[in-house]
Amino acid sequence: MCGIIGYSGERPAGPILLEGLGRLEYRGYDSAGIALFDEQHRLYCARATGKLEQLTSRIEGVLPPAVAGIGHTRWATHGRPSEANAHPHLDPTGRVAVVHNGIIENFAALRERFTARGASFASETDTEVLAHLVAEALDEGADLAEALRVTLAETEGAYSVVVIATDDPGRLVAARAGNAGGLVIGHGEGEQFVASDLAALLPYSRRVTFLNPGEIADIRREGVTLTDADGAVVERAPQLQPYDPVAAVKGRYRHFMLKEIHEQPDVALDTMRGRYLQDPPRVELDDGSPIAAAQARELQRAVLVGMGTSQYAAMIGRHYIERFARLPAEVDNASEFGYRRPVLDPRTLVVSVAQSGETVDTLLAMEEARREGCPQLTVCNTPGSQATRIADGVIHTRAGPEIAVASTKTMTASVIALHAMALHLGRLRGSLDPEVECAEIEAAMRLPAVLGEALLLEERMAAVARRYAQFEDFLFLGRGLSYPVALEGALKLKEVSYIHAEGYAAGEMKHGPIALIDERLATLAIATRDEVRDKMRSNIEQVKARRGPVIALVSEGDDSLDGIADEVIAVPAFEGALAPVVALVPLQLLAYHIALERGADIDQPRNLAKTVTVE
Ligand code: G6P
Repeated sequence: MCGIIGYSGERPAGPILLEGLGRLEYRGYDSAGIALFDEQHRLYCARATGKLEQLTSRIEGVLPPAVAGIGHTRWATHGRPSEANAHPHLDPTGRVAVVHNGIIENFAALRERFTARGASFASETDTEVLAHLVAEALDEGADLAEALRVTLAETEGAYSVVVIATDDPGRLVAARAGNAGGLVIGHGEGEQFVASDLAALLPYSRRVTFLNPGEIADIRREGVTLTDADGAVVERAPQLQPYDPVAAVKGRYRHFMLKEIHEQPDVALDTMRGRYLQDPPRVELDDGSPIAAAQARELQRAVLVGMGTSQYAAMIGRHYIERFARLPAEVDNASEFGYRRPVLDPRTLVVSVAQSGETVDTLLAMEEARREGCPQLTVCNTPGSQATRIADGVIHTRAGPEIAVASTKTMTASVIALHAMALHLGRLRGSLDPEVECAEIEAAMRLPAVLGEALLLEERMAAVARRYAQFEDFLFLGRGLSYPVALEGALKLKEVSYIHAEGYAAGEMKHGPIALIDERLATLAIATRDEVRDKMRSNIEQVKARRGPVIALVSEGDDSLDGIADEVIAVPAFEGALAPVVALVPLQLLAYHIALERGADIDQPRNLAKTVTVE
């Protein structure tokens, strides 16, 4: 969602804030703004609609020198994208400026309270009440941190906020309310940073502190004091982040999405490192066995939750849990989880999958599971995120920062982590045949190389993209483990190219989608060699009989669809349950190249945000 950055130190704040916003822009990009103190300690605030470059060009040459400030890049929730609705928001006297991410549920009532007293509001946002509330508390004599604490107590909702005030130039106060909208502090020498995610901080500091819900950070250039909702000081040593800042830049690639697709062989290796052991063959979860053997044997069921791409990874994980751990498993869309009074108990293992670890729907499902006493594991790519703190055990995916809004490498990493988790659980439960474990490990060792081979399909997929870029409708079909891959292929295409695409279980095609088939609807069929290939072939024949063009993914060496499908893409053969990861690569490349052909904004597709911290 929205991106937040704040700085207090001796260096000029403006350029640091703008650079940080550049790294955060993937979170939201309908408007941007900064606020800082000029030399007379007056608040200087600039905002602009559109992407960050609009703001940058507007303030070039007029940015006052400043040593502290805040910045924001917005993804609209309350109030359309406009300059008036862009952050930072100020109180009417210009004493306080705030940037905010998340939703203030009772903002209407609060706004009413102020307007009843004659106060005016300059925007349609929920955010602006925060500036009024902080200013009100300051007027009543509170210190800035105390004023924010009072504000948090008056508001409902899950959000994060950073505030500056003319009372104390050089000081920032930041808070996290509830589960949404994470904030992380970057500690430097004589300077401090705060941001909504790590990517913005990494060039400056790898010593970081993630704020917990309810905590307030009082940030001055010499240091940071953390307090809890009651004002008690919280002592927590900063963590050292392993991420390499170089990984956060695009390098030789035209887009982050393409870079991240190409990182997948390395990501696979990193996710497997220290977990897939060959001598003797076994899978260990080096993050510490999050489930005790006795508890694993007691489990009666597993429920997997996630959203978007992470949900599709979870669907593959379900197969793994059933196959290797022989545990009944189901997958839930996390946003629907709370609506059904799901039956949960301490013998239900809840596994959440999340790239960001901050998706509010996933966090809410996790909280529900926690209330019911379920043991919980999370497969997550963001160390220190809220998901990692709610879960009892974490399987870090180690894919590194993913910048493109459309997820690619993190799906691969999540699927591998789920595979490892299911094998591990299977052994603890005594349900895993050692020969199967051995075969899966041997196959997994080949995965990075096979993914590298799959990337060689790029030119072929670019050529297919040129032929199909003008289609407006796509159907993606798969069966078994390839069904979630079909869903993900369709999602990638619609996200980055705005083409209408639907993923379907191939068996379901006859129950509706077949009515759409004609020469204007392209079908992508995943018919890689597995136990369902012959059935996929029948589906392809059914599409062809209705003049529908077909792009088929087959396993290398399989010529059975030559002359039947219009395009036959040979995917490197891979034996083992991780095969869906290999089929993902050409689908990601197809979506990327079609979007390129159509001139779409690939890394920042319209209307989307990388981390969705609102329900
Ligand atoms: C957003 C992103 C998707 C992502 C989904 C879930 O919609 O654009 O790429 O799959 O959120 O995010 P999570 O961080 O929970 O995996």
